Amino acid sequence: MKTKARLFILFLSVSAIFVFWGQVSQYAPPEEQRSCACDQCPFENGTLAFQNLTRFSQPFLSRNSNLSEEDFNWWRVIQRGGGTISEYRRNMSRVFKLIPANPPLEEPIPGRCRTCAVVGNSRNLLNSHYGPFIDFQDYVIRINRGHSKGFEADVGKRTTHQVMYLESRSQLDDTTRPVLFTFKMRDLEWITSVLRPQPSRKKSLFNKDLVMIVNPAFMRNIHHMWLQKKGAYASTGFMSLVLALHICDEVHVFGFGADSDGNWSHYWDKKPNNKVKTGGHPGNVEYEMIMALARHQVLKFYTGW
Ligand code: C5P
Repeated sequence: MKTKARLFILFLSVSAIFVFWGQVSQYAPPEEQRSCACDQCPFENGTLAFQNLTRFSQPFLSRNSNLSEEDFNWWRVIQRGGGTISEYRRNMSRVFKLIPANPPLEEPIPGRCRTCAVVGNSRNLLNSHYGPFIDFQDYVIRINRGHSKGFEADVGKRTTHQVMYLESRSQLDDTTRPVLFTFKMRDLEWITSVLRPQPSRKKSLFNKDLVMIVNPAFMRNIHHMWLQKKGAYASTGFMSLVLALHICDEVHVFGFGADSDGNWSHYWDKKPNNKVKTGGHPGNVEYEMIMALARHQVLKFYTGW
């Protein structure tokens, strides 16, 4: 009788262990413990579900960022700007005397899916009627001379981030975050000159408290890892798209590539131009990569017309 009881208890214990193990193995972390609350988060566990691309830890510079000599040597030749690393450090420390020590990034909100619209400047946006959908996203990132006025129905009205550099600068309102790319030493001097208060200037080009400067090491990482070193360096548009994958949980991409007639011009150009003008950038490689990212559901791509 005693043996039977023992066997019965043993049976119950083993069953309980199996039931418990079954529950544990089926456990899915609650929404707030996942890295984001979208259907799919691009960098789940820090790696993309495509080509093992990893999240770059510091896409933006902070006052205490330390650019390595290797990264600096890549950066100083991309636009043949030259200069020494100590010159770079001196200029950057001048910039950081005028802007906050850390980029004004918004922390991820648990249980939320932060969405980005990255709006390239392609003519394929014309007659797309994407405007309201672009404006619906949390962040609307425009690039270089990308603007809304006169094109609201196709490109939207809102701009939360404007990507620019010395040659593509434009006047921003007080709430738009300037995302600044530097390609050469002169760009650093330009940032300082914009930020220094000058009696002759009524209004600064942008709000200094919202400035974010893209880390040259991140630019190099994009060229090496995302484009396998094709071309001299990635286009501003492609880098903006990778940046969006770092600050948003869901990325919608508009205005990249040619229009349906094969024109690569801008949506505001008076005359279309069917020549791919990508300078030192690997235009077709970038486009193929964007398509591959879309196929792997890393981002959502909208072809326009
Ligand atoms: O011409 P711009 O460099 O100002 O355009 C911003 C970005 O939009 C480019 O860097 C490129 O990535 C993208 N673009 C595109 N196809 C076009 C025009 C621009 O993919 N026809």
